[in-house]
Amino acid sequence: MIPFLDLKAQYQQIKREVDVEVSRAMESGQFVLGPDVAAFEDRFAAYCNVEHCVALNTGTSALHLALLAAGIGPGDEVITVSMTFVATTAAVLYCGAKPVFVDVDPRTWTMDPNLIEAAITPRTKAILPVHLHGLMADMDPITDIARRRGLIVIEDAAQAHGAEYRGRRAGSMGSIGCFSYYPGKNLGAFGEGGASVTNDPDLAQRMRLLRDWGQESKYNHVVPGYNYRMDGIQGAVLKVKMNYIEAWTEGRRAAASHYERLLEGKRCGRPAPPAHCRHVYHVYAIEVPERDKVQKALQAAGIATGIHYPIPVHLQKAYANLGCGPGDLPVTEGVASRFLSLPIYSELRPEQIAEVVSQLESAANI
Ligand SMILES: Cc1ncc(COP(=O)(O)O)c(C=O)c1O
Repeated sequence: MIPFLDLKAQYQQIKREVDVEVSRAMESGQFVLGPDVAAFEDRFAAYCNVEHCVALNTGTSALHLALLAAGIGPGDEVITVSMTFVATTAAVLYCGAKPVFVDVDPRTWTMDPNLIEAAITPRTKAILPVHLHGLMADMDPITDIARRRGLIVIEDAAQAHGAEYRGRRAGSMGSIGCFSYYPGKNLGAFGEGGASVTNDPDLAQRMRLLRDWGQESKYNHVVPGYNYRMDGIQGAVLKVKMNYIEAWTEGRRAAASHYERLLEGKRCGRPAPPAHCRHVYHVYAIEVPERDKVQKALQAAGIATGIHYPIPVHLQKAYANLGCGPGDLPVTEGVASRFLSLPIYSELRPEQIAEVVSQLESAANI
């Protein structure tokens, strides 16, 4: 069996260190926010090359608070993509705003900047690109359009810890960057977690207020807020994991290079990161015809795969009231039908990668 993800192997690697830190956190009695969370915030802000990190309970909360702090509300429109996890869209709807989808670039599977201008209306307030699978969206044209048209850029960097675009880290190019520390993410908590990062002290302050019930001081609520605080134990875990994130990321990149070498010349779409981007391979997706059949055959051969994502958000039943339908986003819909995510993690060994590719060759006509 080659699992899709191996969190147990990762835990074994850091067990000694993390167990000490978690015990210490428990003995401290600081179960919500506290010094471990604050220390993690400092480390993660430095990692992203930004001034402020606001640690939260989930990546969804990070998107929600980022939009609220940026002043997005009812009647506003936010330009985003449908090729993402539903949380990106849900956060816009939580604010009472309307998500407006644009299609993705068929080479990178991220927001196609050429389609943004046509989607702008007098109600447009923000652009919300998603750094899908760990590859940053084409941020130069996106931030350029935003500057010219007076729009805010919020990055959904939930899958892109440590990714870079022309040497700039994910989360540092928009007004706010939003991260998830869901356990399977490149930097994962031992439960739920998330954070927003920014260089703007006012936005950071607003998000700190909103995550803690809008309290300026105890029981003094100056704005209606939320309970979006990070647990102390998660701060302790994530602080330890910061010591490993770069090595793990390089492990993922090495695994991706190995896949790339073995898949060269094969008839399947593969990640094609532009030379100026550092892809961090949260997901290693390929495009294959007859994807569902191939996935079943791989499963039978003991290889677990995933699909990120099989139904784009604009075609989900839950969001039918947005009024979108089949054919609205042809590139998104096409890749959704062909995407297949192969196992990728730093513990994945070269012989396992060779086995995945060999089984893929038997299962698919590539
Ligand atoms: C692109 C994207 N955005 C947002 C989220 C939401 O993060 P969380 O699950 O931590 O709420 C995820 C997590 O899966 C994601 O992949």
